Amino acid sequence: MYALTEEGKEYLEEGLPEKNLVELLIEGPVSFDLLKGRMKNFSIAIQWAKKKGWVEVKGGKIHLAKEPKSFPEQLALEKISRGEKVDENILSVLIQRKLAEKSRKIEKEIIFLTEEMIKTRDWRLGKFRPYNVEVPGQKIQPGKKHIVSFYIQKIRDIFFDLGFKEASGPLIESSFWNFDALFVPQDHPGRELQDTFYMKNPKKCKLPDKNLVNQVKAAHENGGGTGSLGWRYKWSEEIAKQAVLRTHTTAVSIREMSKLTPPAKVFCIGKTFRNESIDYKHTAEFTQIEGIVLDENIGFRDLLGYLKEFYQRMGFKVRFRPAYFPYTEMSTEPEIYFEEKGEWIEMGGSGIFRPEMCKAVGIDVPVLAWGLGLERLIMLKMGMNDIRNFYYKNDLKLLREAVLWQ
Ligand code: PHE
Repeated sequence: MYALTEEGKEYLEEGLPEKNLVELLIEGPVSFDLLKGRMKNFSIAIQWAKKKGWVEVKGGKIHLAKEPKSFPEQLALEKISRGEKVDENILSVLIQRKLAEKSRKIEKEIIFLTEEMIKTRDWRLGKFRPYNVEVPGQKIQPGKKHIVSFYIQKIRDIFFDLGFKEASGPLIESSFWNFDALFVPQDHPGRELQDTFYMKNPKKCKLPDKNLVNQVKAAHENGGGTGSLGWRYKWSEEIAKQAVLRTHTTAVSIREMSKLTPPAKVFCIGKTFRNESIDYKHTAEFTQIEGIVLDENIGFRDLLGYLKEFYQRMGFKVRFRPAYFPYTEMSTEPEIYFEEKGEWIEMGGSGIFRPEMCKAVGIDVPVLAWGLGLERLIMLKMGMNDIRNFYYKNDLKLLREAVLWQ
């Protein structure tokens, strides 16, 4: 671990001065003054050559006194330069002469500076690797919101901004609130097993107070004094008691309406369940963005306005297509424009709640209502192509790399 100093390197290349002097004298003595003026490192050369007994100065001339057979120090310089081992006595002379010194270089360059290196001052023996700012940094994965949670928060903010209050309701719901109170007839195909999940436990739910149940019953059987004829069949309490996984958050809206006094604006973002066969567009559980607006002086154009405002804030163009639901008149399905595919995509249902359902819960002002798909909206926002990514795949890469709210 020794290395040549600058002077050592010079002598390695040009020869030790005393060696050069001796070689000059082989052909005969030379004038002291002449050499003094011309020879490089003369004083060093004469000093060491004398000390070793190789030369004498007589009569102004330098004479060779004893020709050395070899120059072990010159050899040692060569060995040190090659990193080879050197006799210790010779080494100590070279060190004394400042031709060699403890190596300042270690083979490896320093990449990480450690506490140890600082304590031992070994950092001085190394060369620091230059800092390369072009190299990609180490990936860090801090905690991050799930895409769905992130958008739910954004959407809540939009509705709070528009003056809505938030509501929620049970996931396990009675058929009464999920269907009957919405004026969905008891033989409606949407209630069948292939669409709706019925609970085994609890199998039945309690119905609300008798008065409300009777109002709903009357609406179904004869219109309940709304001027409508109703569905004209015998309404069954037992069917209304059946427990289901709510198929839409409109169950929350009607529950809210049974408690509210207009004017009011209420929204709910909640999980819903349908017995779907699963594919890239369908999952058996999904989330709806539900809203109702109750006010005396509002109508269909206000409904379109709210939906347009919402989708615009989400960054989409919207258009409306006529639709049908048992509980609304008029009814429309908003569609939003999917730039990448150049397609309009159906986003959910909306309309003005029918008097048959409003009257039963004591509401006699117009009620604007909508129930919109959340996951589809997020898919379009994120440029995703498979709704199963949200819940079944648990693809961490997707979640980590998701760029939210562009
Ligand atoms: N409940 C309907 C659905 O799930 C959507 C809807 C809500 C339609 C409110 C009209 C009014 O498809």
